[in-house]
Amino acid sequence: MAVNPFRYTNPVGPHDLIDREQAASRLTSRAESGNNSRLVAPRRFGKTSLLRAVATDMAADGWATVYVDFFGVLTLDAIAKRIERAYSEQLQGGLATWFAGFRQVLSGAHLGGGPVPASIDVRIPSAEAALNERLDLPVRIHERSGRRVLVVFDEFSEVLRAAGNADAVIRSVIQHHGDAASYIFAGSAVGMMTDLFSSPRRAFYAQASPVHLPPLPPELAAAFIGERFNATGKEAGAAMDPLLRIANGHPQRSMLMAAKLWDRTRPGRPADVSTFVEAYQDAMADVRDELEAIWQGLTTGDQRVLTALADPSAPVYTTVASLGGSRGGAVQGSLDQLMRRGIVLRDRSHSNRPSIVDPLLSTWVREGLQPEPAALDAVE
Ligand SMILES: Nc1ncnc2c1ncn2[C@@H]1O[C@H](COP(=O)(O)OP(=O)(O)OP(=O)(O)O)[C@@H](O)[C@H]1O
Ligand SMILES: [Mg+2]
Repeated sequence: MAVNPFRYTNPVGPHDLIDREQAASRLTSRAESGNNSRLVAPRRFGKTSLLRAVATDMAADGWATVYVDFFGVLTLDAIAKRIERAYSEQLQGGLATWFAGFRQVLSGAHLGGGPVPASIDVRIPSAEAALNERLDLPVRIHERSGRRVLVVFDEFSEVLRAAGNADAVIRSVIQHHGDAASYIFAGSAVGMMTDLFSSPRRAFYAQASPVHLPPLPPELAAAFIGERFNATGKEAGAAMDPLLRIANGHPQRSMLMAAKLWDRTRPGRPADVSTFVEAYQDAMADVRDELEAIWQGLTTGDQRVLTALADPSAPVYTTVASLGGSRGGAVQGSLDQLMRRGIVLRDRSHSNRPSIVDPLLSTWVREGLQPEPAALDAVE
């Protein structure tokens, strides 16, 4: 029996990526010319998948590549530890062997690695000194092997949770890396990433040019989904149109709904609108807990604004007022907060109107207002 060809839980390989050639070549050519980039896109827009594809390509061209994920770091020690672990797990061949030895002479060796016997004289380095040594690893690699290093810092804005000036600490080291390393900083808290790189008060101001990941163009998503249905003996049929409309170019939501639709479609019988409605409900059942958690984490004011945004045709301020909220500053404050967290984005293709990034959060909020499955209106 054919296996479901759609993946939606983890980062995907290069062959599963729709429409990211331009972003990939921009990131690669900037790195090659010794410039840094930042890849900014909301959650689940395919940042990690793309970064892996870029790193694989550059490794094939002789670069040493290291991918560090800062998600959840709370201390400078934790940042240093993540970096050290990434080098230890990802360097290949001779560099891997060299690093296994070099690691032992890093100050604070085995960061977080259990108690040290009192008889051994270890000067505990400051967290900052230990971090600096790990940040400098590309220079050590370049000196040793002549290879340039591509360093990817994913979920970069999380470093600010460790220390308000963590970005300054990091910049003070890596700004001297010249030819040794190129950096890609990625993050899904779009507003925070923008602050980090566009505010004159921050250390990384104007230090990395942006690369944005747009929503998937519907014609490319349709071709990809259609081909994978066909290759596995199924047909997406009339279900394709509502799927594309509800998913609205969101990469992970597109694949999630495609996977559910595939499960509901029988070989030799094209899917139709009612197959899509079943698939949509399956997808919603998958994500409901996640959406509820997001909702619970919002203030009442933020919830009002989100509710107003869930109806793209309604004017935000009037709708918030009709839901019992105040006008003006408070609404703007909520909008800023929702944008900082990457829940809401300005929609470039619709005169910069703020819109909810996750189409399933949007339909879920609309369904909450009207218990009937009104959110599926778009299907009719
Ligand atoms: N270009 C794409 N084409 C097809 N599917 C994609 C694409 N980008 C992302 N996806 C889908 O999104 C899912 C998440 O991708 P990935 O983990 O790379 O995103 P991310 O932006 O790093 O997410 P997070 O914000 O959770 O770290 C994948 O499992 C895949 O289903
Ligand atoms: Mg990711």
